Amino acid sequence: MGYAIEVRDLHKHYGATRAVDGLSFRVESGEVFALLGPNGAGKTTTVEILEGHRRRTSGHVEVLGFDPETGGRDYRERIGIVLQDAGVDDDFTPRELVRLYRGMYPRRLPVEEVIDLVGLADKADAKVKTLSGGQRRRLDLALGLVGDPELLFLDEPTTGFDPSARRRAWDLVENLRGLGKTVLLTTHYMDEAEHLADRVGVVVAGRLVALGAPGELGGAARTASSIAFRLPPGVAVSEVPDLGAGLRSQGEDWQLRTAEPTRALERLLGWARAREVVLSGLTVERPSSRTSTSS
Ligand SMILES: Nc1ncnc2c1ncn2[C@@H]1O[C@H](COP(=O)(O)OP(=O)(O)O)[C@@H](O)[C@H]1O
Ligand SMILES: [Mg+2]
Repeated sequence: MGYAIEVRDLHKHYGATRAVDGLSFRVESGEVFALLGPNGAGKTTTVEILEGHRRRTSGHVEVLGFDPETGGRDYRERIGIVLQDAGVDDDFTPRELVRLYRGMYPRRLPVEEVIDLVGLADKADAKVKTLSGGQRRRLDLALGLVGDPELLFLDEPTTGFDPSARRRAWDLVENLRGLGKTVLLTTHYMDEAEHLADRVGVVVAGRLVALGAPGELGGAARTASSIAFRLPPGVAVSEVPDLGAGLRSQGEDWQLRTAEPTRALERLLGWARAREVVLSGLTVERPSSRTSTSS
């Protein structure tokens, strides 16, 4: 059996925005794969293209042997989707919703089993509007699981969780691995990707900047990457937050070398987003590869 997911040179443009800009990766059957990246990296766009919910601008995408754009119902019945914000009807109970969703799939898990799997047994008959955020998220997961999918997409499954809800969600993903499911999850938490995934693809500005097992990723990172970017007029370098390494100027560019490029990029891009600064000419260089974003 080959790959569950194959993505080659995927592009998605929204007008002038290149949300996905030449992304390639493969996910093996039974693998838990994480796309790790800051907000705006293109994770949701990528996942929704794989789910068949958005059209790509160009590139090759194959999931379970289907092109998600044309796979139709045969394809949808084999995947499970947990949206970043599912928005189910508040007046139903988890048991009612799981039963309702279950009716849409040819292959299905027993209602009780799904409710137990996500740890909602004691809330099965409570109205959704009385559930906590973490419990709602687990309901979303139950709805993604009831069709007994081979492959599950989890878009930011723990964003906004407190530490204990997060632990429970992690246990759940580990249960899914035990069931032999292939999982593609997205996250902007490095520790989450490292804890859950067999392999991690780091995405920044719609491109893969690192790929490997959590351990290898650290190894690649330790060989020091170089990050360079340009600040627009009117933004002083003193405004840039601490990136874990000193910034040097080189012509118009600011440059740093760091053993933790992912953390530095998360911090840099988080700041740029909050400050509404466009970083032009952003490049990330490692000994074995060079990736640049055009903007
Ligand atoms: N429907 C849309 N129309 C226009 N721009 C979009 C749309 N969806 C996402 N974007 C932009 O594409 C980029 C990637 O967004 P997204 O895929 O949501 O990233 P992530 O999930 O990693 O936070 C962002 O710059 C975002 O503003
Ligand atoms: Mg997203």
